[in-house]
Amino acid sequence: MKGIVFTEFLELVEDKFGLEVVNQIIDGCELDTDGVYTSVGTYSHKDMFKMVAKLSELQNIPVPDLLQIYGEYFFDVLSKGYPQFMDQPNSFVFLESIDNYIHPEVLKLYPEAELPSFDAKMNSENEMTLLYQSSRKMSDFAVGLIKGAAGYFNEEVIVEKELKDGDGEKVMLNIKKIG
Ligand code: HEM
Repeated sequence: MKGIVFTEFLELVEDKFGLEVVNQIIDGCELDTDGVYTSVGTYSHKDMFKMVAKLSELQNIPVPDLLQIYGEYFFDVLSKGYPQFMDQPNSFVFLESIDNYIHPEVLKLYPEAELPSFDAKMNSENEMTLLYQSSRKMSDFAVGLIKGAAGYFNEEVIVEKELKDGDGEKVMLNIKKIG
């Protein structure tokens, strides 16, 4: 997993909960790296799960909620860092382009990136589905990114999750525009 995902996570934790909590996370987790990340490095996604679990324990916030909050925040980082992908008419067209344009371009920039696949279907003007598939089981992070994308296009959506297998590698995300 790319370092920017780690550095921005620790930045968010520092902003919301303070440096003390960042230190508690780094000291309390057995991380591959001792908590030292650079935005251009590549690290095990397991470290990310360890840190999110520790934050959940420290702050009493469920892991899925934390991943969603982080996804929404991270979208802001992505949209500013990669403006070339943002020139789209609305959130649905944008979301449809992740799998056939954005993530493939990301892979050209960073061949070591580990990305999910998203099978997109437009059901109507206000409803679409994305079938999330990834061994990293980060569909809650995807939900946050989707909400962040909707906000970017000044839209409001609700996202319902439907597990397509037992453990979260395959999840149907039903997205409805409500404003
Ligand atoms: C400007 C748009 C976007 C860019 C540049 C982008 C780029 C990236 C990058 C660099 C990673 C990290 C890969 C790694 O660590 O190895 C990532 C992961 C991920 N992206 Fe995107 N992304 C974008 C939009 C989205 C959106 C809107 C979604 C939600 C539907 C999404 C879903 C995910 C998920 C869930 C992961 C975590 C890895 C996994 O689940 O396997 N991305 N993306």
